[in-house]
Parts: sequence; structure tokens; C-alpha cells
Amino acid sequence: MAFIPEDKLLEIKDAASIEEVVGQYVKLTQKGRNLSGLCPFHAETKPSFTVAPEKGIFHCFGCGVGGNVFSFLMHYHRLSFPEAVQELARRYGIPVSVKDLGPEGAQQAKKRTKAYEANTAAAAFYAATLTSSEGRPGRDYLKKRGLTPEIIRAFQLGYAVDEWDALRRHFQHRGISLELGQEVGLLAPRDRGGFYDRFRGRIIFPIFDRQSRVIAFGGRIIGDGEPKYLNSPESFLYVKGRTLYGIPQAAEALRATRVALVVEGYLDLIALQVHGIGNVVATLGTALTREQVRLLKAVADKVVLVYDGDAAGAKAMKRAFPLFAQENLAVRALPLPTGLDPDSYAQAHGVEMFRSAWDSAQPWFSYLLEDLISTHGLDIEGRVQVLSELRPYVQALTDPVEQDLWLRNTSERLGVDAAALRKSLTSLAPISAARLDPMRNIVVDQEKKLLRWVLAHPEAVAPEELEEWTEEFRNPELKGLLELIITSYREHGRMDHSLLVQQATGETQRQHICSLTLEEDESEGPAGDFRAGDWRRDLRVKHLKKARARLKARLKNASDGEEVPLQVQWREIDQQLKDLSAV
Ligand code: UTP
Ligand code: MN
Repeated sequence: MAFIPEDKLLEIKDAASIEEVVGQYVKLTQKGRNLSGLCPFHAETKPSFTVAPEKGIFHCFGCGVGGNVFSFLMHYHRLSFPEAVQELARRYGIPVSVKDLGPEGAQQAKKRTKAYEANTAAAAFYAATLTSSEGRPGRDYLKKRGLTPEIIRAFQLGYAVDEWDALRRHFQHRGISLELGQEVGLLAPRDRGGFYDRFRGRIIFPIFDRQSRVIAFGGRIIGDGEPKYLNSPESFLYVKGRTLYGIPQAAEALRATRVALVVEGYLDLIALQVHGIGNVVATLGTALTREQVRLLKAVADKVVLVYDGDAAGAKAMKRAFPLFAQENLAVRALPLPTGLDPDSYAQAHGVEMFRSAWDSAQPWFSYLLEDLISTHGLDIEGRVQVLSELRPYVQALTDPVEQDLWLRNTSERLGVDAAALRKSLTSLAPISAARLDPMRNIVVDQEKKLLRWVLAHPEAVAPEELEEWTEEFRNPELKGLLELIITSYREHGRMDHSLLVQQATGETQRQHICSLTLEEDESEGPAGDFRAGDWRRDLRVKHLKKARARLKARLKNASDGEEVPLQVQWREIDQQLKDLSAV
């Protein structure tokens, strides 16, 4: 983990309150002094995800994930720690210099910057080629496909000439590292050393992230040929499942409409943009992922899937629905006539239907039901098959009211008794993530309870007393945690749970901190305090007895001068032990 100065972390952490950050992704409701909601890290119907605003931490009692505001962002967006820090600093306007990121973080940041520069340079190079004399084949093709110069500019489309080293030579001229060019997938290594261009004789589609940085490229062959599209491989800049094509170009229209159209291809998207449909993004032909759904959730309140009018398109839409249900994002399907994709549909019928996409589209469940009926038919066998394929979708409906309404609708459509249908489709409980208690097998229950109590009442026990406990703790993990608490306590003069999470030596320890802290919150009461008092006394007695035994050993070999002070100590300990047993 990179070393970022603690005061910087504290500054960011104080500005970015955990309930606010988590609240952007999870609907939270007050529960006692904490907040709870549906865990974004596993599928669940009853909230077991808890956020403790005062302590700056979260924990899910269902799947065991926990941490502070940085860990949340790391898990949610799969960021590295320095990335999460930078992201929060950016959102809350806290300046973070490269120096603040520590040597490792600074090096990473520098490499990323250089990689973006390499991609930007390549996009500019391909775009310039498209407008040059060499770019004629590309220009002709795009014109034939109905693209205007404005659209070509808006998407920074380009052309790669059919040569092995055009970009490589350009990179060499510009002093751009060829190794980095390979890492981002623009160049490929030759067997005999050196590099060659990956994209040759293709129309180039730069792929941008939300901040309009070029993270990858797609290249379409001109006319027919295989493969039709060649894409950048995944890299440290580009993870396919976390990217949606066209996001920055759609930003303004998305803000205005809060409805996002999702299509499959580069040219589907661009064809709609040509006709003024701006609120559209593309998946680039792969199955929609949970991360992409989350990306959509950030930019839209409603999503309309407009996939190709073929079996593959239908299948891809059906696979996506449960993700939307789980992420609580409204989705509909806008099926196209067989054989058409959004591009060819627009050429044939215009784009009116896409302007009112949400209203033209079908609720996903009825789309699904009709699709299954048309595949299997309505005879008895067909209906049984339809019902069996519906089951996982019914169970993905997390809202009981919505589930009920669709079940009624289905029972009518299929002519099946509603009660029987409900029984059949909801009988198997949704797969609940196994309750993951990392400490279930640990016998030292008492130690766990004491730590829980310390985490809940940080000011109640002096660090000196905690240090005595470390001698008595048997379980190495819990002992390690106790030691971490003491160190953190001594360094900062107080207990800061969120900072403690930051200082944890690993994921397990981090989870222990969060689960122990929040478990105590859940089971508060005087009984807990009372028993903690008992255990503290037990530990103190153990500690004093050990000290007395050590004194006894020393007294045996003590010289005359040493004897008296040792006896004084002995008597003091004895008295303390008497006091303790008298309480
Ligand atoms: P399509 O084959 O539907 O292409 O693939 P398209 O976008 O409609 O392009 P045109 O209109 O035929 O020129 C949809 C998407 O799947 C990905 C691309 O992102 C494409 O836009 N794909 C397709 C590939 O990555 N590689 C391929 O070989 C084919
Ligand atoms: Mn297509």
C-alpha cells in the first residue's frame, strides 16, 4: 500500500463523510445511530449493510465486507487505494499533490499520465490521417455510412493506414515510449525485437472514459473482412466491463433527459447521434456488467436497451435484466424488427421512435414473458418451460410489490392459478450469500467480546490496561488487533475507527475492526458493560498474579538490599488482588 501522509488522509476523510459517499450508491435509512441499506456487494433482499457515520466505517453482516470511505470506493469501483484517495480528494476539492501519493502512488500516477498522453497522441495521429490524402478510403467509407464531418470530429474518429509501422514511427519522432505503446495495446512486439502497429487499414474509434480521456481504441475494417472490429486489449487504463462507449458525448443529453439508451455497437451509437439522439451509450458487443449498470445509474434514472433485432440481441438483453433489478435501476427493452440494428432501423424508419424511447419501450418483464412465450409456445409443455425460465427473474425482483404485480400479470397471461404460480416461482429462496463470519471458529469468545467493547468505548480503558491484556490474549489475530489499537491510540491520543481501518495490516483485520465495532452497536445495553467489567477484572487478576509470581522468583535470589522494595511491591499487588476480589 502506498504511503499517503496520514494528515492528508484525515483531511479527505473528514470532508468526505461516509454516509454521503455511500449514500450516492446505496439507499440508506436511519437505524438507531447507524444507517442501513441493501448491500451493494452481494445480492440481498433484507438490509444487512450498515454504515456508522460517527465512526466513519461500514460493514455488511451478510457478506462480511467492511472498511472506511476509501475502502468503500475501492470495492465499489475496483480502484487501488491511491486512486480512491485521489477520487475523493477530487470530489471534495482537496488538493492532493503527486508528492502526497508517496513514491509508489506517484510513480503509478506518472505512468498513467504518460499512458493517457500516448493514447491522446495516437488518437490525434489517426484523426489527422483521416483528413489527409492517405485517409481517403476511410473518409469515403464513413461518408457512405452517413457520418458527417461534425460527428467525425465529435467522436475523434480516425484512420490507420495499411502499414506496419506508421504509428510506431510517429511515436519514435515524438519521443513516446514504445513499451508504453505496447502496454496500452497500440503496438505489438515483433518476434525478432521491436514493435509493429496493431491497427492497420482500419477506421479508428477512440474509446473515452467519463473524464474524456482516451483509454482504448476500436478499429473497423473497411468493407468486409475478418475480424470486423479489432479492439485494444484490456490494460491498466482499460477494463472493458467498466467502460461504456460514448459516455462523454452523451453527457449533456443524459443530464437533460436522465434516460439512457443502450446499444451494442460503435456505429449504432454514432448513427443515432448523427440524427440528434444524444442520450445513447454502447456496450461494444459484450455482455453488460454490474459495473456498467452502476455507471449508468450515475448518469440516468431510466435505461432503455436497444439491442440488435436478432437472437443474440434478445439473449443479451435478457441476461442484463436481473442486474438492473438488483441495482434498482429502471429498465425497459425496445425490441427492433428482426434483422435490423439501431443503425439500419434509423436509415429505414428514421429516429422518431428513439426520441421517445422510454415510452416506446416495453417493461422488461413483459418483454421477457412475451419472448419466452414466442419461443416455447402456450401449450402445456411450453407454459411449463416458460415458467421454469422465468423463475430466476421473478426472484431477482427485490421489491415485493413489483414482484406481486408481475406474478398476477403472468398468471393471467399464462392462464395459471395465481397462488400456484407464486408457490412455484418463489419457492426456492433466493441464494443468500453465505453468512461469512471470519471468526466463527475462534474459541476465544471472551477476547472477541472485550475487543468489541473497547472499540465501542474507546475512552473507557487506558492504553496501559490494554497493554496488560496483550499478555493474556491467546488468539493471535485478536492480539494483533489489540496491538494495532494500542499503537493507533498512542499515536493519535484517541481512537479513530476509520483511521484504524486504514492502518489495518490486511483485509481480514480490516473486516474484524468493522464487524466488531458494528456488532457492539447492534447489541448495546448495560449488560454488555457489566460483563465487560467482569472480564476486565479477570484479566487484571491474571496479570497481577503473574506479576506476583515473577516477584516471588526474584525475591528468592534477591540480595539483602533488594529485598525490601520487592516486598513492598509484593504487598501492593496483594492488596490490589484483595480489592479486586472484594468488588
Ligand atoms: P456488430 O457486428 O453489430 O457491428 O457488433 P456494428 O456495430 O453494427 O457495426 P457495423 O454497422 O456492422 O459496421 C456490435 C459491436 O460488437 C463489437 C463492436 O464493438 C461492435 O460495434 N464487435 C463486433 C467486436 O468487437 N468485434 C467484432 O468482430 C464484431
Ligand atoms: Mn450491429
